[in-house]
Amino acid sequence: MSQLHAADRLASLSPRLEAAGQEHLIRFAERLDPAARARLAEQVESIDLELLLRLTSGRGLAHADAGEPSPPETVDAADPAALDRRREGERLLRHGKVAAFTVAGGQGTRLGWNGPKGTFPATVVTGRPLFRVFAEQILATQDRFGAEVPWYVMTSPANDAETQAFFRDNNRFGLAPGQVCFLVQGTMPSVDLEGRILLEAPDRVALNPDGHGGSLRALRESGAIEEMKARGIEQISYFQVDNPLVRILDPLFLGFHAADERSSGEMSGKMVPKRNAAEKVGVFCRRGGRTGVVEYSDLPKSLAEARDADGRLRFRAGNIAVHLLSVEFVDRLTADPLTSGLPYHRAVKKVPCLDLATGQRIEPSEPNGVKFETFVFDAMPIARKALVMETSRLEEFAPIKNASGEDSPASSRQAQSDRHASWLEARGVRVARDADGHAAARIEIQPRTAMSAGELAGKALPDRIDPGSEVVI
Ligand code: UTP
Repeated sequence: MSQLHAADRLASLSPRLEAAGQEHLIRFAERLDPAARARLAEQVESIDLELLLRLTSGRGLAHADAGEPSPPETVDAADPAALDRRREGERLLRHGKVAAFTVAGGQGTRLGWNGPKGTFPATVVTGRPLFRVFAEQILATQDRFGAEVPWYVMTSPANDAETQAFFRDNNRFGLAPGQVCFLVQGTMPSVDLEGRILLEAPDRVALNPDGHGGSLRALRESGAIEEMKARGIEQISYFQVDNPLVRILDPLFLGFHAADERSSGEMSGKMVPKRNAAEKVGVFCRRGGRTGVVEYSDLPKSLAEARDADGRLRFRAGNIAVHLLSVEFVDRLTADPLTSGLPYHRAVKKVPCLDLATGQRIEPSEPNGVKFETFVFDAMPIARKALVMETSRLEEFAPIKNASGEDSPASSRQAQSDRHASWLEARGVRVARDADGHAAARIEIQPRTAMSAGELAGKALPDRIDPGSEVVI
């Protein structure tokens, strides 16, 4: 529709907006030029007001209290079936049946890095950005198994251009043209504490990415699912952008997921034992005969702190947000937009916006808004049999979430050195440790050298690593 008609378009939206209590959205429109009015009209028209009304009145939200949870059954690498399962996972990789999938559409507000989080320099010595760490694992996996691994990267409207430019500027980290595919996730309007949609500017609604659960719909709507089918991909290896220790194409996990009788091959997750009752990770649990995840904010303190007969946390299966999903499962789940919706979670956050009465810009110092997001793990209970595999925190989990303290760049870098120290020690190298048992040197082992202690066999290694030294292998 032409810009000339923008004023009419906005006027025609007025009754709908009034009925939904959202008429303030066009309150500042008379200050706008025709192009800006047209932009605003387009944004407002694309908002699902009915969905928003349901959510702001508490319907369509995830239920934290749907029955008493119990701990899930888990499998681990010491399982007697592990060797066969690993072979099955290797077969899938050798036959090019697996795609890597990174969700990188988040806003990364806690870290406060000026750019997409995947561009953050994460490794201990060379400061490799997260995206390069994943690319090198993909290249190393291809070296071993000989088949190409397509890599799907989900961005958001806010960081898509910068993310794609980063890959271009870095020559896709050596991956082939066509191997890296980008898809942009959807958004939801942010609302104030009374449910009124917020404006970021007079011509712009305040939008937030619709959560990592939006990745499933984005896979369908971008055409990625069809493309995967055409490429012969059967399984999607899902991981977040913020964990440099993630093992993104793990044959053992793939094998358990695809070939174990405890799995339907639809959706699986990896866990590590929680550090303590207060750690801010969701936990896997069973509820209503299904395996799923309860977010840490939804787990009552009494359950978070409950112990089993062995004195371990009863709900100890911390979710590290590493999943396998079959292409067929995502296809089925997203086939019907009316029935495929995952429930929304409500998060109260600080949202920079316009004062809805005066139109002045506000930088809130206290949470003033609500964001609605869906979470990918809510798809797990929809799988017929979802499998949870236990793994080691030292080997696989050191996320970068906060600027300092726990789960920060500093704690993640120490964890990377600790993992690599343990690999070297397993090969007879003497590594300096500090009084707390942490590696006392900065040690980076690159994926193309080794992705496990075993893969260091036959490599040239130092005899010892001295305190304070920096080592790249
Ligand atoms: P987080 O829950 O850590 O959120 O996302 P975040 O937005 O990155 O960071 P904060 O909370 O603002 O500090 C976990 C993973 O899910 C992705 C993130 O990019 C990260 O890989 N994510 C999150 C999306 O892809 N889209 C979203 O809408 C939300």
